[in-house]
Order: sequence, then structure tokens, then C-alpha cells
Amino acid sequence: MNIEKLFNKDVMSLDTYIMFRLKEETARLKDELTARNRAPIALSMGAPTANPPKVLIDRLKEILDEDNIHTYSTPKGELYFRKAAAQRMKNRFGVDLDPETEIFSLVGSKEGIANLVRFITTQKNEELEKDVIMIPDPCYASYLQFIQCSGAKAYPMPLTAENDYKPDVEKIYNQIIEEGYKPENIKALFINYPNNPMGISTTKEYVKSVVDFCKKYDILLVSDAAYCDLYFAEDEKPFSIFEIEGAKDIGIEFFSLSKPYAVTGWRLGWVCGNKEVIQRLGKGKSTIDNGIFKALQKACAEILNSEEGDKYIEEGNKGYARKQAIMVKGFKELGWNMDKVPHTTFYLWLPIPRKYTSAFDFCQDVLRKSGIVLVPGNAFGECGEGFFRLSYVCSDEQLQEVIDRLKADGFTY
Ligand SMILES: Cc1ncc(COP(=O)(O)O)c(C=O)c1O
Repeated sequence: MNIEKLFNKDVMSLDTYIMFRLKEETARLKDELTARNRAPIALSMGAPTANPPKVLIDRLKEILDEDNIHTYSTPKGELYFRKAAAQRMKNRFGVDLDPETEIFSLVGSKEGIANLVRFITTQKNEELEKDVIMIPDPCYASYLQFIQCSGAKAYPMPLTAENDYKPDVEKIYNQIIEEGYKPENIKALFINYPNNPMGISTTKEYVKSVVDFCKKYDILLVSDAAYCDLYFAEDEKPFSIFEIEGAKDIGIEFFSLSKPYAVTGWRLGWVCGNKEVIQRLGKGKSTIDNGIFKALQKACAEILNSEEGDKYIEEGNKGYARKQAIMVKGFKELGWNMDKVPHTTFYLWLPIPRKYTSAFDFCQDVLRKSGIVLVPGNAFGECGEGFFRLSYVCSDEQLQEVIDRLKADGFTY
């Protein structure tokens, strides 16, 4: 079969998603590493390894026996799920959303964001004719692939210490136009706070300026709030874009059950905000998926606004604070400067040791010598070169083992 004739060139240019590539590579090296007492420790994927809340599992088991629970749901999500999401938005952020029109369920937020990108862009061959989506750099690696796969242009907004991680959107817009892209093709601007891979947060003033910018140029503001519950310092407590006046006129926000409740495999989330955008996205999605398994929606609807659910998140965050402290202490001993570490997510974003010039080479060396799986920073965008990301989601003992191995194998800053 002529595969090149079959698939469009943008799909042909894609590689398997970085996290799955790393998983496959680690599986290939497993026996050899284990024989050297370096059995792989994966600090690559952003997937909590803890068990989900017990009450959630117990309820799910009961719900599985209910009548009419195993049949198709609806793409927009059962009303009880949308109502629970609306209630959560109210409880957590003081934001009002109409569960009928302003909330839509997702088969995980990755699915929702990927489909959004497909629906708002058109495949173009001429570079300067391309639809443009402004994205943080570094960012969740999937954004780059969604946009590439849609034949659009991912235009980077560098997040650097110099700009205090607040890119000047107006300046970047002018740059895009100067390069020859068309203003009418600039479709959306993505923000993601707390940010994957860096864990940085931002201020309401900054988001207000981004809302104003998006309104001025009629650009969709897309906020990815996958980590909004993962914080362990009150002054870094994440907020919703809808706490900012006028954000609903121009914005939508993606939420995920995956990380706060450690249910990455369940595939559950919601998108909310601007009614017209949500409804149009929903029409598109209704042609693709048939919604989420009702038992999962029901169990999750109950946990979203429950005391047990909030307690679970609180305890989880205490655990991440403790795990981060193990890593901060360890990397300090290895020579890294650990003075400015954000207290959100479960990621550490660190520069590669001075003797390396490539993040890929450093991560390969650490994998092959020490059996520790890290992610090279450039997988998250060009600004990520020279850095690596690790997820401190495994046990405290494994994290200490990571530090001990790095010490024993001579990895210092
Ligand atoms: C920033 C960000 N957004 C979205 C997702 C996707 O989450 P899910 O599809 O599990 O809801 C991830 C997962 O790592 C992420 O890091």
C-alpha cells in the first residue's frame, strides 16, 4: 500500500507521542538495565501512580449494577455530570456556568483540545496561508502535534525568566503579521497555568491583558486548566479565566479529572465557557464520539463536589509537596540551583548539566546509565532545549533511589 498517497503530509510527518516513544524505548532496555541493578524508574509521564479515592471506586462498583448504565451516553455528557461540573466551577472559582449550554463533556481533555484544533483550522499547503495558533513555549507536547497534524502553524510565545513567563502577546502578534501570516488566520491563543512542563503560574492582571488582546483581534482564548487543583502554596493557587470579567465573551477552558483524582485511564474532562464555541465544538464532537461511559460520569459527578474528593486532593497535594522536597534536596546536593521552584503540578523543570549541549543526549545518558526516564525539554518546544522535565509521581523511596543513582553514576550539575 502506498502510505504516502493515503495519508496527508502533516500526518505523515508525525512521530508517536513522545511519552509513548519513551515507554517503548524503556521496555526495550528493561532487561539489560535490571541486570545492572538499574531497573527503569519512569519520571516521564504526568500520570499519578496513587490509587484513586476509595469512595470513588466503591461507588463505581455499585453504579455498574444499575439499569441502563452500560448504554450510549450523549456526547455533551449526562446532565448530572454537567451540573456537577458547573457546581464545581462555582465552588472552586465562584464562576457561574449554564450546564445546558456552557459545559460539554470530554473523553479526556486531550481529546477535546485535539478536536478543537481540527475544527478551527483548515489544512493549507502554503506556509503563509496557514491558520495560526499562538501557544506557550515550552508547552504540553501534544499541542504541537495537534497543530502540526491539522496543517496549521503553532506560533511560539516564549515563557522565559526574562519576560517573567508573561509573553507580550501584542508584540508577538505584530511579529506574526510582519512574517506574513494573515490576521484573519490567527485563530486561537492557548494558555496553560499552572504550566506543563514548568509548573509556573500567572497573575489575574496578566490574564486580563490576554483577554483584552483576544477581544481586540477576535482570537479565541483557550485556557488549559488540567493542573488547576495541583498546588501546595496558597499564593500559587490557580484561578479560572472566567474569574476575569469578559473572558466568557472570547474564551473557553478545559478541565480534566485525570490528575486531581489519579484517574488518567478513565478519560474524563469537560470544556466550558463561550456558548457559541461550546455548541459548535459539541456539534463536531457529536460526529466523532458517543460520550463517556455513564458509570464513570456518575461516579465522577459525585466526587467532584464531595468532601471526600476535596480531602483526597488536599492529601495528594501534601504528598506532592513532600515528594518535591525530596527532589529539591537531592538535586541541590547534586549541584543544581533549586532556589526558585514553583509549588504546583508534579513536575520539576531543570537545566541540563553544564557539560551537555543537548537535552536529548543528557536524557539518553541518564536512561542508559541509571535507568531513569526523563523527558528532554525540547519535546515541549524550542525554548525547552537545554532543560529536562521530570514527574515526581512515584513513591518516595523510588524518588530517593533516583537521587542515589544519579549520585552513584556521576550526574551532577
Ligand atoms: C497541559 C495538559 N493538558 C491536557 C492534558 C491531557 O489530560 P487528559 O487528556 O488526561 O485530560 C495533559 C496531560 O498530561 C496536560 O499536561
